[in-house]
Order: sequence, then structure tokens, then C-alpha cells
Amino acid sequence: MADYVIAIDQGTTSSRAIIFDKKGSIVSTGQKEHEQIFPKAGWVEHDPAEIWDNVREVIGQALSKGDLTRHDIAAVGITNQRETAVVWDKTTGKAVYNAIVWQDTRTQSIVDELAQGDVERYKSIVGLPLATYFSGTKIKWILDNVEGAREKAEAGDLLFGTTDCWVLWNLTGGTDGGVHATDVTNASRTLFMDLETLSWRDDILADFGVPKSMLPEIKSSSEVYGNVESSSLLREVPVSGILGDQQAATFGQAAFAAGESKNTYGTGNFLIFNTDTEIVHSKNGLLTTVGYKLGDQPTHYALEGSIAVTGSLIQWLRDNLGIISSAPEVEELAKSVEDNGGAYIVPAFSGLFAPYWRPDARGALVGLTRYVNKGHIARAALESTAFQTAEVIEAVNADSGVELTELKVDGGMTANDTLMQFQADILGVPVVRPVVAETTALGAAYAAGLAVGFWSGLEDLAANWQEDKRWEPNLDADERARQLRLWKKAVTKSMDWVD
Ligand code: G3P
Repeated sequence: MADYVIAIDQGTTSSRAIIFDKKGSIVSTGQKEHEQIFPKAGWVEHDPAEIWDNVREVIGQALSKGDLTRHDIAAVGITNQRETAVVWDKTTGKAVYNAIVWQDTRTQSIVDELAQGDVERYKSIVGLPLATYFSGTKIKWILDNVEGAREKAEAGDLLFGTTDCWVLWNLTGGTDGGVHATDVTNASRTLFMDLETLSWRDDILADFGVPKSMLPEIKSSSEVYGNVESSSLLREVPVSGILGDQQAATFGQAAFAAGESKNTYGTGNFLIFNTDTEIVHSKNGLLTTVGYKLGDQPTHYALEGSIAVTGSLIQWLRDNLGIISSAPEVEELAKSVEDNGGAYIVPAFSGLFAPYWRPDARGALVGLTRYVNKGHIARAALESTAFQTAEVIEAVNADSGVELTELKVDGGMTANDTLMQFQADILGVPVVRPVVAETTALGAAYAAGLAVGFWSGLEDLAANWQEDKRWEPNLDADERARQLRLWKKAVTKSMDWVD
């Protein structure tokens, strides 16, 4: 058997390909950013053709940097930004509209209309409140607004997929027999999948006016979906793992058992708490979602605290305010001051997700005095990531009835020591990062490798997990409570802003 597995991570800001060995160590990587398209306030789009080109390019980069060929690769895993909706013509292979990204809030009026005064009307079936975040309303928007799209969809000519599905279809042949499938974790983010039966709900599809023929087949997260098509550098290699990126990171962190969790610091932050084979409905603003399903084995579920804006706030400081010229500089700027100087940023750019689910919230910068400088703003930006996480963990603790004793973290911003220390301080529990912080790609590689016997079972994967760094809390309880109180007050200022 070949010695490596490749994972394709189709994320919000970039696409990456990472090659792993049996120990779960990184052998080589390729990465390319794609354009973020903001046609109007609240709208966020990606070009699906650009994404697919980039995926092909990063596969080539990773293979050539590792001096490897397809013969060295046992399997391909895919992980992806979830919820982002692509609708394409199955005969031409072209998207009928740009991908509508998970952060996009244009569908609020569709949400209001479908909710009929109750955003939780489907929650007991699909685990999610009606919100612009999920794929369903985005598909409806495309069918309602792109000329000819509804007729074509009804004639069976259009396909929908999240970006895992778009990549899988293209990778396995596209118009020439591409496989139209997704995995249970991605399907659980559409608003259309019944969490118990793992199948599409005809009644909900009828409410949305979305033809079932557009939807991909729902498969497990670890099985052979098809082989890579013949013109690819990876030709004939099986594609055998798909997990939405947050579920992939949980899998990559080897958080397989009930009560285990992880928090990923990416464009947004996403905390996932494993509830094993039990479907738990949150009373505190968390989502219920599928964690993973390996082949025919039982489905594992999870509670999720989704935060829309964390890392993307740092990009905003860079791109929109220009107070830093690269994202890592934020740490230096934040360290130029002792504290936030009284300033708080609530980055409700897409409304507020967990635990509030307030689409009408908008970003707020409060507590300003003449004293506040850009160092304080940088610090407040980092702190907002930690405060939002603290609120999600409060919800997890309340739902599970058990206090979290440490937080496993991963993702780009975990390289930021100032943030990680503040996170531990504000939570009052240690924060722990593994050696391989690329847990998202690793989780997809694991799912793919398990399906083809590259790894023999979860014990192999758990044995690969190693601690890299631990931040111990170092803030007294009164001060922690005071800062959280001020944060919550700042959050109230961001609400009810929409006219
Ligand atoms: O639900 C959205 C999430 O999957 C996006 O993750 O890492 O691309 O910010 P990321």
C-alpha cells in the first residue's frame, strides 16, 4: 500500500492540499487563496470555477513539494467550508451563480417568510434554527433570483452541493460521470436532513420549493465514493473521506468519545462537543449536528457553538482599517498595550450566531475614550474571539450539566500566544494545542485512510495525538467575572441595530 493520504481542505479563504504519513505528520502542503466577493453589504460570494482551479493547483503543489506521485497516495479525503452553496448545470458543469458563502445574510427575508414567526419550526427535525447561515435559504435564493434557474432545476438539469460535493463531482469526472454525493455532516447543515433517518425531508423541501433531484446522495463520512478521473494528477486514487471542516477538526483532534470537544480558530470559531450516538437538543443556543459516521457504523452527533467572525475580524483590521499589514502583526500591536483600554469590539458582521442567533445585530465598537489607540483596538479584536468562545462554553456547560475542564484548540489563530493566554484566563481552564494544529485536514485524511485500511481503527488515530503547548489560566475570578460582564454589556449594544 502507498505510504500517504492527501486531504483537500476547501476553506473559506483558501484551498489547501496536505499530504500526511501514517503518524499523522505533515509531509507537504499546497495552498492558494481565492477572491472574496462582496457585491453588497451583507453579501459574500466565491467563484466556484476559481475554487476548482485552485484545488487542482494545490494538489499539484503538494505532490511536487513532497516529490510524490499518485502511486504514493492511498486515498483522498475532502473537508470544506460548510453551508456555502453552489448550484451548477450538470450538462455544462458551470455554476449558474457564484457560490453563496455561509457568512452571507441576503436571505433574511426568506428566513422571515419561512419562519412564520417561529425560527425554530424545523429545529427538532434538523437540529438547526432557520437562519441565513445554512445552505437551504441560499439554494432558494438562487432558484428565485437567477433567470431560468427554477425551470432548469425542476427539469432535473441543476445540481446543488456544498463545496465538498462540488470538488467531489469535479474530481471524479464532472460532466463525464462525476459522483454527486455529500456526507452526513455536510448534509446536516442544509436545513433539509432529518437527523434521525439521515435522509432529505420531502415536507421541508416542499416548503422551500427546492426540487429533491438537485440534492446530492447522502453518504457516510468514510467510504469509497469514487475514483479520481483520468486527467488528474491523482488519477484512479479513491476518494474515501468527506467531513465538514469543523467535524473534520474534531475527528483530527481524536475527540471520538462523549464529552470530548475542540475549538477551532479560523475565519470564525467553532466549538464542537461530542454527544456520542445521542441527538441532544440544546436549550442554550447551540446547534445539533452530525459529528461523523464511519461507513455502516452508528452515527455520532454533536452540539456546536458557531461564531461567525473571529479570524476574519483580523483580516478586517488589515484590509478595511489598514492598522496592520499582515494578520500575524496583530499580536505585536496588541502587545504594545497592557490591556484593552476600556474598548470592546463586538464583530457582529453577519449578525450574531451562537448563543444569541440575532440576525439584526451589527458590529459595535464601544467604550471609546480619547485614550484608546490602535494597540487597544488590536487587543479588543483578539479579546472578542476569546469572549465569544467563553459564551459558547457557558452554553455547553449549561446543556451538558458538566463543567469543561480543559479546552482543546486548533486552527491558525492558535499560533497567537497573547490570544491563547487570554483565552485560558477568561475561561479559567487550561487551553491545550496538539502538535499537528492542522487538525481539519488531518481529520479528512483520517476518514479517507480508515475507509481503505490505511489506518486500522480509531485507536491508531488516538495514538497519533500529542500535546504541543498548554496555557494555564492566570486571572483571578473577580477580574474574570468583571471582564465578562463588560463584554456582555457590549453585546447588548450591538443588538436591534437594523432599521
Ligand atoms: O460553518 C462555516 C465553517 O465551516 C467555515 O470554516 O474554517 O472556513 O472558517 P472556516
